[in-house]
Amino acid sequence: MTELKKTAVIGQPIEHSLSPVIHNFWINKKNINAAPYEKIEVGPENFNSSLDKLIDSGYYGLNVTVPLKELAFLRCDELTESAKKTQSANTLIFKEGKIHGTNTDPVGFEFSLKKEIIEKNINEKKCLVLGAGGSARAVVFALDKMFADISIFNRTPEKATKLCEDLGVEANSLDEKEIKKQTSSFDLIVNTTSLGLFPGDTNNLIDFSLVQKKAFIYDLIYEPKESSFLKQAKANNLNFQNGLKMLIGQAAAAFYVWHNSDPSHNTELESLLEKL
Ligand code: ATR
Repeated sequence: MTELKKTAVIGQPIEHSLSPVIHNFWINKKNINAAPYEKIEVGPENFNSSLDKLIDSGYYGLNVTVPLKELAFLRCDELTESAKKTQSANTLIFKEGKIHGTNTDPVGFEFSLKKEIIEKNINEKKCLVLGAGGSARAVVFALDKMFADISIFNRTPEKATKLCEDLGVEANSLDEKEIKKQTSSFDLIVNTTSLGLFPGDTNNLIDFSLVQKKAFIYDLIYEPKESSFLKQAKANNLNFQNGLKMLIGQAAAAFYVWHNSDPSHNTELESLLEKL
């Protein structure tokens, strides 16, 4: 009898990760010959030893989340283009004694967008990315592939410059004054900062009264479902989206890598996740 494929997500904190719900939903729906997907708390200080133990105990693949994606990238023997360019790995497979890494966040971001949004708001359109951390790297990499004209704002401007250099992407790094001047010209505005993640904090990086009506507003935050950023977009009658579809998209790409099977029933999954 062949052993069931073992997969899990590692990170810190991990308690509230939705990845087990998503992967186990697909494992069950598609009758995949795999063990239940688990969540395992691993901090940065014991990342390398924990990874060795998990490989020794027979795991086939792991998802890697905050704050371990850069460390995972550094441990990989083989990397895909998305992992190399973003310098982070969120999906690992252990094959033939090697650690293979990829980053499915960029494809997850693209997957989350309706075709008409890509055509009307991204392809050769002015897109503003707020933030220059790990998720901004994934978003900028994906936007560049979709032929966007990219601008970036980050509290620490040097990080925005470094991000563009590492990705090999030409983008404008804007300061607060420039953002104000150009707000009405953006077709897409994506928040990748952690502002709005914690109760009580507000994201005031954009004056939404200046945003043009055809612009699309995206916040990678999915908990709360309507962040302060999205609430302001809604109050100004703008179209908007949170990060839930991207979460599902990055998981779908990882699932495909491990099980060679396209997950489905995503509308059912989305309503399930929204109720949690
Ligand atoms: P992630 O992996 O989710 O992208 P990260 O790499 O820690 O997380 O990046 C967090 C982003 O949120 C960064 O762009 C950070 O700005 P700095 O590079 O200046 O640190 C941004 N951020 C966090 N708190 C912020 C705040 N209070 N105001 C503005 N930007 C903030």
